[in-house]
Amino acid sequence: MFRESKKIGRNAPCPCGSGLKYKKCCLGKEGAGNRVKELYYKKYGIRLKNKADVEAIKRCGRLALETLDLVEKAIRPGIATEELNTLVHEYTVRRGARPAPLNYKGFPKSVCISVNEVICHGIPGPRVLKEGDIVNVDVTPVLDGYYADVSKTFFVGTPAPEAKKVVEVAKECLRRGINQVAPGNTVGDIGWAIQKYAESRGCSVVREFVGHGVGFKFHEPPQIPHFGKRGQGVVLVPGMVFTVEPMINLGGKELRILNDRWTAVTADGSLSAQFEQTILVTEDGCESLTPYPI
Ligand code: MF3
Ligand code: CO
Ligand code: CO
Repeated sequence: MFRESKKIGRNAPCPCGSGLKYKKCCLGKEGAGNRVKELYYKKYGIRLKNKADVEAIKRCGRLALETLDLVEKAIRPGIATEELNTLVHEYTVRRGARPAPLNYKGFPKSVCISVNEVICHGIPGPRVLKEGDIVNVDVTPVLDGYYADVSKTFFVGTPAPEAKKVVEVAKECLRRGINQVAPGNTVGDIGWAIQKYAESRGCSVVREFVGHGVGFKFHEPPQIPHFGKRGQGVVLVPGMVFTVEPMINLGGKELRILNDRWTAVTADGSLSAQFEQTILVTEDGCESLTPYPI
């Protein structure tokens, strides 16, 4: 998705903080001048992506979205989350890709499936979906060495008003977060917009898990918190690719990790919802590499 134009003037100060004019610094051909590329790697460990990288991440993103569509069609009361894992695994492999979650830091399955009070990192298993559940499916294929990370929260059957609310708020948080992504804005602007909206709706923002750079690896710098202050943190520059993936709780923000060492649940047992996309910073705003309507 493209943001309304927020183009930096050629003669304006470069957002990378070099003190040079933008045209003399980062206004480069491939979306990232050499100077900013070096600076961002040295200073933050951020590896900017070039055109070919972006095209490859996009191809991976398309596969991720098709995988999510497949899962959505299979979701119904009575299906075990293990069966959805099998669908994701087989489809990913059939398309010549690999599911990044499998064996990642010991994660035992090919997709994260998080039901109701599970915030994220739910491990597929015998849990059976039932009418009224909400279920987040978080898919990350690796295609030709490139990663794209995307998730949606689905309804199982007809949602109760509370379920509908937390899912709507989480989706709107993603929309407002992405809307802040433009060169010259900061990482803090994204979190600020998300936190402000979530809390205005009486919901809370999870602190322990954040968005992240993505593309060459599953998780790269920078971290993208879904809370924070305007103007703080790294200045966004063209060529950055990262996820925005707010986890929004209906109750308190506190969480607990189950004995499986992965599953994060709300401490108060309240519902939690999440939407995630992989976003590229462009010259005049941003573009989702895993686009779906929000
Ligand atoms: N896809 C998750 C994210 O959005 C990460 C899952 S790590 C795993 O960052 F090991 F649980 F797969
Ligand atoms: Co992610
Ligand atoms: Co993810």
